[in-house]
Amino acid sequence: MSDGGELAEVLRRIFERRRAKAASSEILGVLGSSNNDGNTAALARAVFAPLPNSALVNLNDLAIAPYDYLNRHDNDDFLSLAEQIVAAKTIVFASPVYWYSMSAQMKIFFDRLTDLTRTHKDLGKALAGKSAFLIATGGSPEPPASFEPPFAETARYFNMCWGGMLYGQEGETMPAAEGFAKRIDRSTYENPACAA
Ligand SMILES: Cc1cc2nc3c(=O)[nH]c(=O)nc-3n(C[C@H](O)[C@H](O)[C@H](O)COP(=O)(O)O)c2cc1C
Repeated sequence: MSDGGELAEVLRRIFERRRAKAASSEILGVLGSSNNDGNTAALARAVFAPLPNSALVNLNDLAIAPYDYLNRHDNDDFLSLAEQIVAAKTIVFASPVYWYSMSAQMKIFFDRLTDLTRTHKDLGKALAGKSAFLIATGGSPEPPASFEPPFAETARYFNMCWGGMLYGQEGETMPAAEGFAKRIDRSTYENPACAA
């Protein structure tokens, strides 16, 4: 890259991080679905609607590359998202069940959390004490038993407090959204998940 190109890239990163900081919310949702207006997005929006100072980030709007052992993607959108997460008190993952597992978008994001244990440990350590929740939808009445553990275990790895999952079956009306929003709200402002 030319000097001019490098400068432009540095400036782009600075402005992006400023924008991320300006947009910081106390409750941050991370949505990873192949359908921007699908079942998971609908359930996540229903949960987030009554929550003040919350924001839902759609991974489809960001460019996040798969984990790279040589950290060749340090300049993509992952770090600014990680900074937004660090600025929040509570993080809410939202993923459909795709083949018994989290969506590909969410898995790429989870793999990149590895950056927070290696090249950006300061951000990883700053996750401790935050609460984490999961919103999921699937075709089956119940989620696979193996679905929640990668979210819960990853949160615990970063010393976050696991708040649990809200699961909705496709086609269902989502009456539980309000109750889950209240749980998230209480956890954010009273932190009972951390106290448990
Ligand atoms: C690629 C793909 C894989 C799926 N795999 C499963 C599955 O393993 N178990 C299940 O219960 N539903 C499965 N479903 C159904 C979705 O989980 C369900 O329709 C979900 O609500 C879709 O959410 P979305 O609108 O956010 O994509 C699958 C759907 C797709 C498109």
